[in-house]
Amino acid sequence: MPELEQALAEVAAEMAARTDRGEVATYIPQLGKVDSKKFGIAAVTNDGRVILAGDADQPFSIQSVSKVFTLTLALGKVGDALWHRVGREPSGNPFNSIVQLEHENGIPRNPFINAGAIVVSDVLLAGHQPREAIGEILRFIQFLADDETIIIDREVAASERATGYRNFALANYMKSFGNLHHEPELALGVYFHHCAIAMSCRQLAMAGRFLANGGRNPATGHSVVSAERARRIGALMLTCGHYDGSGDFAFRVGIPGKSGVGGGILGIVPGVASLAVWSPGLNENGNSKLGSIALEKLARMMNWSIFAP
Ligand code: DON
Repeated sequence: MPELEQALAEVAAEMAARTDRGEVATYIPQLGKVDSKKFGIAAVTNDGRVILAGDADQPFSIQSVSKVFTLTLALGKVGDALWHRVGREPSGNPFNSIVQLEHENGIPRNPFINAGAIVVSDVLLAGHQPREAIGEILRFIQFLADDETIIIDREVAASERATGYRNFALANYMKSFGNLHHEPELALGVYFHHCAIAMSCRQLAMAGRFLANGGRNPATGHSVVSAERARRIGALMLTCGHYDGSGDFAFRVGIPGKSGVGGGILGIVPGVASLAVWSPGLNENGNSKLGSIALEKLARMMNWSIFAP
């Protein structure tokens, strides 16, 4: 097996040379203008090593990767009661699909599709103004990454709102079933802002450390969530983290992962490392094309899989 430094450098060099990079998201100008040649990868191991390659220190829009952290916060707030309002099944549909909601009484399939994440935002809003809930999410991510420089890109948040007709439709529809407790506008305010958080691969891999280490920050030993909860969040990432590409990601990479349309993926190797990769070009499911390929190669090189003996 190669050293991790060597494996990361090799994967980054190979990805830099590829010309089939997928298409960057264009639904908002801030994502549409990102250079598709960018590629970054970071690994933070449970024994404290931080290994970087490519553009690993350049912040990008984490988009739906943020849903791992909002889910973690919401579970901390309401525990298993969350599962009365959000399911735990893969949707087999695109991330912004509305079709299942009618048959399933406004209960989204899982917390990672847009509808599910909007319900999670609604949960985080309880007892707060949107501004406070957004601040709580940002501070939680800063705390996990041990980095107070992480910010919300206000321009991205404003564009998300300006173009978010489908998310408004999802929120209004769920409200009609009684599955939003606040006005759709307020839950969406929280949702649009957490999608607009900007982080680098280094920061994202740092923030994911607790999931690779049984719920504890490996640097401080402090518990973020219980070991059982960390396992369950990992299970949801594996089964739902790449929308209708989740099965293929599990098949090819074999570790829990969560993607975002900014081209980022957070990957967790339980007991070993937290990984983040960024390549802005997307595949047909809206997941980072080279990011998925890079994680597949890295996992194979390092013999990483949750199914490995
Ligand atoms: O709400 C949306 O559609 C976007 N802000 C985020 C979607 C996303 O990242 C889906 N992931 N692949």
